[in-house]
Amino acid sequence: MPNGPKPLSDALETLSKGARSGLNRAPMTSPKAPSAGSALSSLLKEHRRFSPPAAFAERAHVGLREEYEKLYRESLESPEAFWRRETRDLVFRRSFTTALEWVLPHARWFVEAELNVSESCLDRHVSGGRKNKAALIWEAETGEVVTLTYAQLLREVEALSRGLRSLGVVAGDRVAIYMGMHPGAVVAMLACARVGAVHTVVFGGFAPEALRDRIADCGAKVVLTQDGALRRGKVVPLKRMVDEALTSPATSSVEHVVVLRRLAAEHPEGAITMVANRDHDWNTLCEQAREASSAPAVVPAEHPLFILYTSGSTGRPKGVLHTSAGYLAGVHVTSKYVFDLRDDDVYWCTADVGWVTGHSYIVYGPLSVGATCVLYEGAPNFPDWGRFWKLVERHGVTILYTAPTAIRAFMRAGREWPDGHDLSSLRLLGSVGEPINPEAWIWYREVIGRERCPIVDTWWQTETGSILLVTLPGAVDAKPGSTGLPFFGVEPDIVDKTGAPIANGAGGLLVLKRPWPSMLRTVWGDDERFRRQYFGEIEGVYFTGDGARRDEDGYYWVVGRIDDVLNVAGHRIGTAEIESALVSHPLVVEAAAVGRPDELKGQALVVFVTVRQGVTVTPPLAEELAEHVGQCLGKFAKPDAVRFTDALPKTRSGKIMRRLLKDVAAGRESTGDMSTLEDFSVLARLRAEEE
Ligand code: WT7
Repeated sequence: MPNGPKPLSDALETLSKGARSGLNRAPMTSPKAPSAGSALSSLLKEHRRFSPPAAFAERAHVGLREEYEKLYRESLESPEAFWRRETRDLVFRRSFTTALEWVLPHARWFVEAELNVSESCLDRHVSGGRKNKAALIWEAETGEVVTLTYAQLLREVEALSRGLRSLGVVAGDRVAIYMGMHPGAVVAMLACARVGAVHTVVFGGFAPEALRDRIADCGAKVVLTQDGALRRGKVVPLKRMVDEALTSPATSSVEHVVVLRRLAAEHPEGAITMVANRDHDWNTLCEQAREASSAPAVVPAEHPLFILYTSGSTGRPKGVLHTSAGYLAGVHVTSKYVFDLRDDDVYWCTADVGWVTGHSYIVYGPLSVGATCVLYEGAPNFPDWGRFWKLVERHGVTILYTAPTAIRAFMRAGREWPDGHDLSSLRLLGSVGEPINPEAWIWYREVIGRERCPIVDTWWQTETGSILLVTLPGAVDAKPGSTGLPFFGVEPDIVDKTGAPIANGAGGLLVLKRPWPSMLRTVWGDDERFRRQYFGEIEGVYFTGDGARRDEDGYYWVVGRIDDVLNVAGHRIGTAEIESALVSHPLVVEAAAVGRPDELKGQALVVFVTVRQGVTVTPPLAEELAEHVGQCLGKFAKPDAVRFTDALPKTRSGKIMRRLLKDVAAGRESTGDMSTLEDFSVLARLRAEEE
């Protein structure tokens, strides 16, 4: 690794100066915004509040602020009573007596419970009156629509769980899923859950190398994939990418590959070859396994459900481990209260199943409450910027959950696209992934929600498993740009690096002071990293990696990551991964990746690179390096700018001074102490190059 993590103190200093993307605190232009200054820091300029629309509140699960307060108090004071009641709809084959056992940093929830997660998501609905209700409405990029009822989805899941068992998959085995946005991906996840196998979904946009690393890290025995997915009319050759990943000896744990045929004959470019004794056609496998059992494997509460890899500030991606009962409880309760899901809703979360948002709020959460979920295969602007709104109109979507980066792209494309469609079915709009700037928030409310729909900004992380900060849509006023108040059972705080609480209005570190059911349990294969990363920074509490403030009303305003993790268009990218991809290029000596504020993506990825002596730096070389990163990690991680430098600015101890590079990338003047800079001329040259 070219460099070490940035010290926390450095990040804090930046935070207290308020240096950040600036997006969240753009000056208010609306006439509704008060012009008077506030007692708070000038960074908290947004004063507008929006009460829950009366028509919404009347029918909401939680329709009054006092009700929220009462439930919140109960969740902290009598967690056992709270969770017993709130998990009553879930299928626990054996109930629990101990709600929580907490031996820092390890939590066990619903200790004695036994269950199979797929029963709560499927069987209970099939036997409970929802058997003919649509569970999934899939729209392919081509416009083709396939609907699966709860009964049909259960049948598919049963069939694949037989198939998996016929391949020798047993509880605890790891299964990698490398698929696009297709109902098969949902079936795959639930079938793993049914047999007690631990799935690791690898986002279909990841490159074969990234797939290889994840398979190797968790020792997957089976890979579930599809021949190809469609994206902007082109085939993403997933199966061929699996073949490539499996050429590495690091993936020798893989015994079987199961391939779903999604592409029709009109896509010869998606043609695949099947490797004898390793590859199986999905349908044939399921048919041949008719004799195998599809009975749900009843597992203990803390049985691993899935591993999801996510970027950290250093090293390789971490395998975040989620377990069964607690995770299910977390996503179930938040789906019900945050999205206020009811039986007549048509719910659409636009995330990819490869990210945690897809896991929790396309699959496990909404299905556990028996919702109808839309699944869309393609790009938001294919064939044009009207695609999302056409989908809303066509399927009568009532709840839409998307990301600020998408909202900003829609803003830019122009309101004529949404205006050209009937969006009257919508009743709630959600946002996730990064701080939403007030302009985008207001646009979302006015142009998409037609001022009728509450907006819920939801803060959470891969590690938290479910939403932790939010304004409940029927009960609590929303403030544009604030992610609101703690969800039930969540006790956040803003502290300094010693753990001392920070007064309202001032910036600090966002921490969580008690465990919540869906929190990660460890980092797969590296419990020490889990301790260090989340419980090693500040004694006794979970450290989120985010900087935030709390205002005088107790609302949280998340500023963003204070570690070296970037958030590019809602995708979490570790600078260390980018840097090691760059130095794997034969011409690169050293590299540093930083974020630069970007109107559309939130952050853009800028890399500073030193190349071997004698290599001439040219624009084609910059493009080649950017392309190389895209190839190592996946296109979404391709740098937006590559800048060459003779040397990187470093401290005397050899740490790259990212703060300076960030300033250079953003075209800002650097403030703060520069006395540790080894070679001032480096900075001067980088600057000069700007002019
Ligand atoms: C990081 C987690 C949670 C699913 C998507 C991302 C940032 C997420 C918000 C929000 C401000 C947010 C944080 C967090 N983030 N949602 N509503 N407001 N920031 O999951 O990839 O694990 O990233 O995303 O910085 O730490 P993830």
